Amino acid sequence: MVDKIKSGITGFDQLINDGFVKNSVTAVYGSPGAGKSIFCTEFLREGLIEGEKVFYISMEQDIDSFLKQADSLGFTEFKENLNSNFMFTRMSGHDFKNFLSIELPKILESRKGKHSRIVIDPLTPFLWEIKDISLQRSMLTDTFNKIREFGTSIITIERYGDISRLELSEELAIPLYLSDSVIMMSMIYNQNFYQKAISVIKMRFSSHSAGMHPFEISNKGIQIFQDQPVF
Ligand SMILES: Nc1ncnc2c1ncn2[C@@H]1O[C@H](COP(=O)(O)OP(=O)(O)OP(=O)(O)O)[C@@H](O)[C@H]1O
Ligand SMILES: [Mg+2]
Repeated sequence: MVDKIKSGITGFDQLINDGFVKNSVTAVYGSPGAGKSIFCTEFLREGLIEGEKVFYISMEQDIDSFLKQADSLGFTEFKENLNSNFMFTRMSGHDFKNFLSIELPKILESRKGKHSRIVIDPLTPFLWEIKDISLQRSMLTDTFNKIREFGTSIITIERYGDISRLELSEELAIPLYLSDSVIMMSMIYNQNFYQKAISVIKMRFSSHSAGMHPFEISNKGIQIFQDQPVF
């Protein structure tokens, strides 16, 4: 039996046969403003509700901006658990390399045997930093193996262009192969309107929907409409 954990995103667990596979790494690819960071935030919030330790590693925003976004969605758990069950770190792609060799092993040691959730949002600066594809592949293989020990993780990758196709530049493509699950968050333009849509491209060890599902972000967060078509 494969252990599953709740994603925390309204309507998403029904698409992935009851939740994320425990101790897996999921890559979320998406266009600007598609909802990647909110997806991750809701995933971590679920962990806080369950009493888990959650880690948000940002290569973009600072803690004030993160809390402002959480506040706008009515998520009080992050402020309440800041520096206890909720750890926030901001770093550059270059710092992330050092983090992997120095900080991460320490964190892993301190969390041995306990389930945690970790988010790296976005991983893109690191992928740009390590342009040598074979080095990037071996560093990510190693990192993903380490964080699988740690718990369940989501990493995000920014991309733009025709999101309904899987074509990616070489330096952004490696996580497609190395992660256990791949999710695409798209913005589809149709008749003067941007429709947000989500698809599960792969999910190792689990059945999942093969469709593209519309979703909305309201002031309560993401809501996925599993049964509605995109246009
Ligand atoms: N409080 C809110 N109420 C309603 N919609 C919101 C709220 N906060 C954010 N949004 C919606 O979510 C979008 C931003 O989502 P998010 O930051 O998760 O996107 P992203 O994919 O991480 O973007 P980026 O590429 O900029 O990092 C906004 O553009 C807006 O459409
Ligand atoms: Mg974001």
